[in-house]
Amino acid sequence: VVTFTMDNDEASNQPFEYFELNGISFASPLHSLELLEWLKDFEMDPDIPLIVSYPKSGTNWVQQMASLILANGNIDSVKDKILKHRAPWIEFVPFKPGYTDYQLLTTHLNYQMVPSSAKNRRMKIIYVARNPKDVVVSFYHYHNCHHYLKTPKDFSDFLEQFIEGNVIYGSWFDHIRDWYNHKDELNMLFVTYEDMQKDIRSVIVKVASFLNKMLDGKTLESIVDHCTFAYMKTNAATNYRAELKHFNHDIGHFFRKGIVGDWKNHFLVAQNEWFDSIYQERMAGLPLKFDYDL
Ligand code: A3P
Repeated sequence: VVTFTMDNDEASNQPFEYFELNGISFASPLHSLELLEWLKDFEMDPDIPLIVSYPKSGTNWVQQMASLILANGNIDSVKDKILKHRAPWIEFVPFKPGYTDYQLLTTHLNYQMVPSSAKNRRMKIIYVARNPKDVVVSFYHYHNCHHYLKTPKDFSDFLEQFIEGNVIYGSWFDHIRDWYNHKDELNMLFVTYEDMQKDIRSVIVKVASFLNKMLDGKTLESIVDHCTFAYMKTNAATNYRAELKHFNHDIGHFFRKGIVGDWKNHFLVAQNEWFDSIYQERMAGLPLKFDYDL
């Protein structure tokens, strides 16, 4: 018999500790070695699509979009269920078998660490990517508010750690490169945060078609309305204000700015040039281009 609780939030004042697996940092009590080891053989159901992203890339936005698509745009059927229960993260303690009341799953794990049962053409994978300059800025602010993540000394220091992959979930460059390089062996839809900002309707239509759902005009508009930053920031089922007890809501917001280009308020000219040169080196040969400004 497997006992299951979905929340580790009440543990908000526990001490935290980083640990490494396969050269990648994780943070206990959010993660545990036991769960990560257990996941290797976790039999994933090919009928439950998996959302994959590096942290701070628009994961919650896609969880909201995809869960509404699967609910045929019917907000009433999902509005009482918070996002992390609609699309649980497989690597967050206490994810365990026995709980099946979800239609989607989520992970920030890199390609190597995702259960091998997910790596085939039957499993639907939605990979969400965001330009790495805005990712590092969003991640930096997140670290400043999160009780279980090391508070960065300053942005410059955090940027260095990010570039070195010395942050939880490891290197952004490795994450995206490995997932992207395996895309032809997988049934993977690649969406970007910037495309969602530019034209949310066409991303919703793309995701719906990937999930074999036809949306009529009214349903599409309802999903658009419930995916706005303003809606998600103020809605209790999406904004995590009540649930995320290990987050200091007085000094920051989970729904922080929700824009493309905030990196310009953080990067110095030299840091930007440095980042661009690292990007060119690390992403050479990949046909990926991000918008850094809209
Ligand atoms: P910022 O910190 O730049 O504001 P994730 O869900 O992967 O943790 O990503 C969080 C980032 O996505 C945050 O970025 C958050 O504000 C942004 N985000 C979430 N929902 C959004 C929406 N509906 N519209 C625009 N941005 C959104």
